[in-house]
Amino acid sequence: MCGIVGYIGEKDSKEILLKGLERLEYRGYDSAGIAVRNGDGITVFKEKGRIADLRGAVDGDVKGNTGIGHTRWATHGKPSRVNAHPHQNTSDRFTLVHNGVIENYHHLQRDYLAGVEMESDTDTEIIVQLIGRFVEEGLSTQEAFSKALKLMKGSYAIALLDAEEAQTIFVAKNKSPLLVGLGEDFNVVASDAMAMLQVTDQFVELMDKEIVIVRKDSVEILTLEGETVERAPFTAEIDMSDIDKGTYPHYMLKEIDEQPAVMRKIIQAYQGEDEKLTIKPEILDALQIADRLYIIAAGTSYHAGLIGKEYLEKMAGIPVEVHVASEFGYNMPLLSERPMFIFISQSGETADSRQVLVRIKELGFPSLTITNVAGSTLSREANHTLLLHAGPEIAVASTKAYTAQLAVLAILAAVTAEARGRDLGFDLIQEMGIVANAIQSQVDMKEEIEKLASDFLSTTRNCFFIGRLMDYFVGLEGALKLKEISYIQAEGFAGGELKHGTIALIEEGTPVIALATQESVNLNIRGNVKEVAARGANPMIISMEGQSEDGDSHVLPTVHELLTPLVSVIPLQLISYYAALHRDCDVDKPRNLAKSVTVE
Ligand code: F6R
Repeated sequence: MCGIVGYIGEKDSKEILLKGLERLEYRGYDSAGIAVRNGDGITVFKEKGRIADLRGAVDGDVKGNTGIGHTRWATHGKPSRVNAHPHQNTSDRFTLVHNGVIENYHHLQRDYLAGVEMESDTDTEIIVQLIGRFVEEGLSTQEAFSKALKLMKGSYAIALLDAEEAQTIFVAKNKSPLLVGLGEDFNVVASDAMAMLQVTDQFVELMDKEIVIVRKDSVEILTLEGETVERAPFTAEIDMSDIDKGTYPHYMLKEIDEQPAVMRKIIQAYQGEDEKLTIKPEILDALQIADRLYIIAAGTSYHAGLIGKEYLEKMAGIPVEVHVASEFGYNMPLLSERPMFIFISQSGETADSRQVLVRIKELGFPSLTITNVAGSTLSREANHTLLLHAGPEIAVASTKAYTAQLAVLAILAAVTAEARGRDLGFDLIQEMGIVANAIQSQVDMKEEIEKLASDFLSTTRNCFFIGRLMDYFVGLEGALKLKEISYIQAEGFAGGELKHGTIALIEEGTPVIALATQESVNLNIRGNVKEVAARGANPMIISMEGQSEDGDSHVLPTVHELLTPLVSVIPLQLISYYAALHRDCDVDKPRNLAKSVTVE
């Protein structure tokens, strides 16, 4: 949430900053700004709206070979030009961008900034005013920055310019991600390596509560107490083609199309030399010791967790609970004697999940993160990591990361089952190959699926998804996808549950999308469809070969019953995509959302 960039070097920084912000727009896109420094001081450009709007506001004649930039997802203060970053202190000497939330900003304002008039409604302005105040009181910029950081409670990634110290960007982070990128005669700062791949693939990871002094030819990492820290750079292994839209109109469509390839990549990544699926022994050992697994996640990743529970219980025979991260930390259930925690997070940065990880680490419990981003906070802080290998997911609506999560959970469950001497009765590699082909068949049916979306959803204001067993969990995901990008009010229900109240909402023509891929409850779900149809609903049945009936709207190819979610979700992703497209919604950047939710 919110993206930060910085550049210090010999070139004019404006274009590098703007391009970097375009790459970070997935992190927030309600307002943006840049500040550049040259002989005339610091010039700030900011605008409400997208980076494209900011571009229009930037004066091309103003040059500066040091600069910082920010794209915002509002937390404190509505999206507006005045609340957009960068923010400056009253004297305009200090200019700062910030990602995160300063929880004690009211106290800091009351205790240290009495009489200072604030321009914006943001917590961020407090930080820059605080630094200005401490410098007025006699501290150096670095000392003032360090003092402010020690006083601040909450999460932050910060880049700071001092008009009187032209050769430096001051940088710090706590809980929010931030990297420094290394170049020849320049260095950069970015929330995500993707932003600066245009100029370098060498990055240094920053740790919480460090201050980093970035100059064009040096990067000095210090603890808040001033001790030097040495840290080797790493190479960001992201292919530029992974982060370009290519010929696709939207990242979401590209990412939906990538799913068959992602399935194959995951199988390869988890195959050992003997071609058998393999998981690091220390992870298997930890799972073996656990008497209960607790899956913690949010949103789409939570929906993947619900299916992960089925896999781990049915294949590996380990009891599992699945919890919404934002609730768990504040309302922890009674835990088993030997719990193990599994965090599922595409980004690896979700603050709601991280607060749980911090708590359970304090309690001494083992943890595993399943994430798409190597080196992300949840990956670094958990005991173990399994990567999704889905490639960068840029559309705000998660698609390929969800199916990758299911695939990795299935592999984890299958390998654990084997380690526990349980016979699966099927070859997961072979079944996953069938799944990859089945997904391909669905992404090749875009025209048919687009027609379903326009027949059923073009004018509706609401929509229900029903399913039983694993279809129920896929329905929850289908509903989330539809509402987040098309703004159609959509809810997922267990097939038998709608009649316990919500059926009151069914009117003439209300679309009800029913999934019917679970053989043991095929007749039951069809009964539930009849109940809503009798009350005027317009049902769309998505079934599977072997269980289909005349009149079903869409029939999926058969795959192993446990793996049906990997296939049944694809038409739901495409239906959401086309519903949003036909309603002129911004598919990749839906309103009010951001990709990486780094605030609680
Ligand atoms: C929906 C979506 C969100 C995320 C959720 C958790 O399409 O992407 O619901 O799944 O914000 O994010 P991660 O997986 O990064 O922890």
